[in-house]
Amino acid sequence: MRNIVLIGFMGTGKSTVGRRLAQALAWNFVDTDAEIGEVTDLSVSEIFRRYGETRFRSEEKIVVARLAQEEALVIATGGGTVLNSSNWGILAEHGVIVSLHASLDVILNRIGHKNDRPLLRSSHEEIERLFLERQPFYEKADFTIDTTFRTIDEVVGEILAHL
Ligand code: S3P
Repeated sequence: MRNIVLIGFMGTGKSTVGRRLAQALAWNFVDTDAEIGEVTDLSVSEIFRRYGETRFRSEEKIVVARLAQEEALVIATGGGTVLNSSNWGILAEHGVIVSLHASLDVILNRIGHKNDRPLLRSSHEEIERLFLERQPFYEKADFTIDTTFRTIDEVVGEILAHL
């Protein structure tokens, strides 16, 4: 059974939807950021702060290479995971890639003040630039679900209907 890989910008609901989707399928769920946290014993923001993004990306690559080989796994990736072509290749080879989309306004509203994401600690212009720059990568998915006006259960239902 191929994995289901959730991709998309920060705050599109990859982890929340992924967990619920895994429950619905009775599959295991993993979140690449959480796995990186387990392996390094550091939070994502701590890795960025102490060692920088380059170190985070190399830990991410190792985790992706390991998880992609498993079967019947729902994998929630980080927003930047699939920008790396080798991550994309290995995830696509072993899984169906599902992109979760939301408008930037909704994303920023959802994330609100409890924002501990290093790449969102910038100006609105910078976040918007990142958001737009990444859309072509997310659009390469097998299919995309717009989560903007949908509940978690509706998004899960849409994904199941596409499989
Ligand atoms: C990142 C997204 C984060 C996390 C890291 C970098 C990105 O994950 O991997 O802060 O480059 O977009 P979420 O998408 O789960 O917030």
